[in-house]
Amino acid sequence: MIFKSYIKDKLDNYFEEKISKHIEFQNSLENWFYKWLDFQNNSYANSYSPKNTYYEFGTGWGQTLTAFINAAKAYSSANNTNIENINICLFDSFEGLPPVKSPEDNHVSWKEGEFAYSKKYIFDLIKKLDFPIENVKFIEGYYENSLNKETMEIIKQIPPSIITVDTDYYSSTNEVLSFLPRVLKSGTVFYFDDLFSFFLNEDYGQVKSIKEFNSLGDGKLYPLTENNYNGKCFIYSAKKWEHTI
Ligand SMILES: C[S@@+](CC[C@H](N)C(=O)[O-])C[C@H]1O[C@@H](n2cnc3c(N)ncnc32)[C@H](O)[C@@H]1O
Repeated sequence: MIFKSYIKDKLDNYFEEKISKHIEFQNSLENWFYKWLDFQNNSYANSYSPKNTYYEFGTGWGQTLTAFINAAKAYSSANNTNIENINICLFDSFEGLPPVKSPEDNHVSWKEGEFAYSKKYIFDLIKKLDFPIENVKFIEGYYENSLNKETMEIIKQIPPSIITVDTDYYSSTNEVLSFLPRVLKSGTVFYFDDLFSFFLNEDYGQVKSIKEFNSLGDGKLYPLTENNYNGKCFIYSAKKWEHTI
């Protein structure tokens, strides 16, 4: 009897651990990246979806980038495709946060110089993760300087399909969202890490920036509700549908 209950407990623990790991993965950012790589390449929309180019604004210590690279490796291996089909563009000062530019940036958790991780730190991380480094572009500098004509010439060759904006500030998010429309295609998906920093207050941070972007009217960011990482994800659609006969 004691033996039976011992076995039962063991089995229960085993399955509990497996299931909780599975649920944790299901809800992870890595899985979100994986699902969108898969959708853009293999769904009904594969012929016209943007695909296989990841942009990250705000690379910090490389946590989000690691999640993307792990998803890209898992996707390529499951679909028997070459990882070299996937490109990455990274945009950061590599010196941490700039000074606060406006009251909408001002938050007790952030200060100038915070999250300063060097370009070398991120370069070494990518090598360690075994992602082809020749497929990675580093756009270095504060956005007010680095998001310029020269950068546009580089990135228009590789328009984004999945974008992370983890820049904390309203002002930095604005600089990103006012630069991107020239390369955005309908079907590009966005993950905004800092959406909840001001508890969704529409007058601060990334929420304000998205609201202003949407009011301009050239294209919109629509919230992706179901099964999309913590309600922090959006899909872009141009005002004038560009995928026509
Ligand atoms: C919280 S960290 C990003 C964390 C990162 N995604 C990770 O997973 O490790 C914010 C990043 O945004 C960058 N950043 C914010 N505003 C910027 C600006 N105006 N120009 C350049 N980089 C900026 C900072 O340098 C910092 O690396």
